[in-house]
Amino acid sequence: MLTGKHILVGISGGIAAYKIPELIRLLVKAGADVRVATTRHALEFVTDTTLRTLSGHTVYSDVFASVNAHATEHISLPEWADLMLVAPATANVLGKMAAGIADDALTTTFAAMRKPVVIAPAMNDKMYASPATQQAMRTLSQWSNITMLDCAEGPLACGTTGKGRMQEIEVLLEEVYSALTPKTWAGKRVLITAGPTIEKLDPVRYISNFSTGKMGLALAQECRRRGAEVTLVMGQMSAREMCEQATAGFADADVAILAAAVADYRPVEQAATKIKKTAESSQMTLCLTENPDIAATLGQQKRAGQVLVGFALETDHEIENAQRKLTKKNLDMIVLNSLQDKGAGFGCDTNKVTLLFHDGSQKNYPLQSKEAVAAVILDNITLS
Ligand code: CTP
Repeated sequence: MLTGKHILVGISGGIAAYKIPELIRLLVKAGADVRVATTRHALEFVTDTTLRTLSGHTVYSDVFASVNAHATEHISLPEWADLMLVAPATANVLGKMAAGIADDALTTTFAAMRKPVVIAPAMNDKMYASPATQQAMRTLSQWSNITMLDCAEGPLACGTTGKGRMQEIEVLLEEVYSALTPKTWAGKRVLITAGPTIEKLDPVRYISNFSTGKMGLALAQECRRRGAEVTLVMGQMSAREMCEQATAGFADADVAILAAAVADYRPVEQAATKIKKTAESSQMTLCLTENPDIAATLGQQKRAGQVLVGFALETDHEIENAQRKLTKKNLDMIVLNSLQDKGAGFGCDTNKVTLLFHDGSQKNYPLQSKEAVAAVILDNITLS
């Protein structure tokens, strides 16, 4: 969440400006207080009324306008802001920002901004490829407070296809979160398993479970925001494939978080052709065999300094079961969620967890977003 954060959105005159009102709405929805500074040309693409309505504040677009709250908005706004997002940044504005030219509301504000800045360029592919633009982007990317995003490839407003599109607003939003998060996990490698496993019965069928991977993805996102390098093992794979990939990834990991719902058993045989209905019996028996336990395997391989975190989704005797798994699998922490709790478990955007630790202690948390749960889990991991 961005509750209490002050975000300054700088818009310049490119067609991608039409997407920024939606981005402002999402920032406000996430709890941020948003103010807007624009170039004059930006208002050819998106109106002052739209920006003012969505942000709830006067738009700063004319340095000398009498509507400005202060005589020196270009100084007070950067002081107020925790972060500035310049999107779209046209070739013209990139060049000015890199060269220190400050001749409008956006560039004067940027020139005084010393806190984190995220820049999302957008332009025609030939303008993008121009040496001047490339040089400006390189220069800006070297400033320690700047996250310089690249353009995306795809259809461009001028009718061609190429590199020059602004990154999608979901990407920009994530970069805002990331730029506001202290890099406390920089240099750390994290292995995360997530989602269900699938065990094939025949070419058209498999055994799986209801896991969607949301909790694991939220963890991967939070690790990345904190500066860690994340290996995410997730996808349409069997427990044995997941075990192989997780074992390989664990070798040089500092932390492993096993959020995957791994099938404990798989069919003894995988039919090469589709299993047919038989006339002889109305019942069918499947013979299953045990899968490797990834958590237990990694628990055996764990070296001093490595942290291993597991999950336990239980329906009864929750604490006892989770504590037993923690010990048996040599985990440092286990995240318990109960299917008894409404809003917790598979597919929900929320989760209610209890953290159990190696020393027998435990911490209970209320129902909260999986994003917030991910932050809580990471906060409880002691890095060596
Ligand atoms: N786990 C794993 N590999 C398995 C089974 C589980 O890595 N084959 C991990 C899960 O990712 C989770 C933890 O072990 O982090 C506990 O998973 P869970 O399914 O609750 O435990 P099981 O040991 O399978 O116990 P049971 O199914 O009997 O409750």
